[in-house]
Amino acid sequence: MSKVTVVGAGNVGATVANVLAHKDVVKDVVLLDIVGDLARGKALDSWQQAPIDYYSTRLTGTDDYSDTADSDVVVITAGIPRKPGMSRDDLISTNAKIVTSVMDSILKHSDNPIVIIVSNPLDVMTYAAHKTSGLSDKRVFGMAGILDTARYRAFLATALNVSPKDIQAVLMGGHGDTMVPLPRYTTVAGIPVTEMIEDDVLDSIVERTKKGGGELVKLMGTSAWYAPGAAAAQMVESILRDEQRIFPCCVQLNGEYGMKDVYLGVPVKLGLNGVEKVIELDLNESEMNLLKTSEGHVRQVMDVFDKM
Ligand code: LAC
Repeated sequence: MSKVTVVGAGNVGATVANVLAHKDVVKDVVLLDIVGDLARGKALDSWQQAPIDYYSTRLTGTDDYSDTADSDVVVITAGIPRKPGMSRDDLISTNAKIVTSVMDSILKHSDNPIVIIVSNPLDVMTYAAHKTSGLSDKRVFGMAGILDTARYRAFLATALNVSPKDIQAVLMGGHGDTMVPLPRYTTVAGIPVTEMIEDDVLDSIVERTKKGGGELVKLMGTSAWYAPGAAAAQMVESILRDEQRIFPCCVQLNGEYGMKDVYLGVPVKLGLNGVEKVIELDLNESEMNLLKTSEGHVRQVMDVFDKM
């Protein structure tokens, strides 16, 4: 018996709900949007896909927070997306108000949910949501690393002409141009990627990954949704099935990597209690320096939020 609420029935939120339903791991998915008929329509459309794709997850749409009561997991995608030329940080003033008010409304009806933030600027929206919530930091965290790592893995799969299934990788840091893909922790079917690819090709893939979200904004005039939605759904699955899968997620650091009171993407284990463990890699000096640069950038935007 489980219930998941997805807040925001835009492209990302609707994709989270739809992909999650296909996994058939949850009894009820509630899709909520202040534009209530949009949520009702997208949820109904997804429910009508169930007889075709064989899932039992019941999807409903609403604009009324009381319908989210007793949610086990809440995914917050609400907020405005980027337009061409904008950075994720440009969204802060609008999205901070939306995310904190969504969080307040959710907590009126669910006592101790696990909350996954997807709204941008991701790291700081996760910080904002946690700060207003009073929930444990193991229960409020953000989706970015799975998406950014997926982009990196997809680019590598194309360059090497191999299946993306065989590419394993870790990527850390903030969800922005300072993110830190880690070639030393990247393998192709267990083989270190550096044995499979020229250095300059790998470098260009790392650079393309860092700007991967912006590439899509330029192509589509708005931000991406298929991979972001699937990434959030994968986190929900690992939680509800208590899989203990290891994914890079945006979490509050409490001394790990020598960093405190900052939200940053690091590898964690996800299970029924949310973040079950933060995994500390033995980064070398140059990797650590890149992570510190990313930390500095996220802290600057956290300050902007604190002064709002
Ligand atoms: C992206 C947005 C969702 O990276 O941040 O596509």
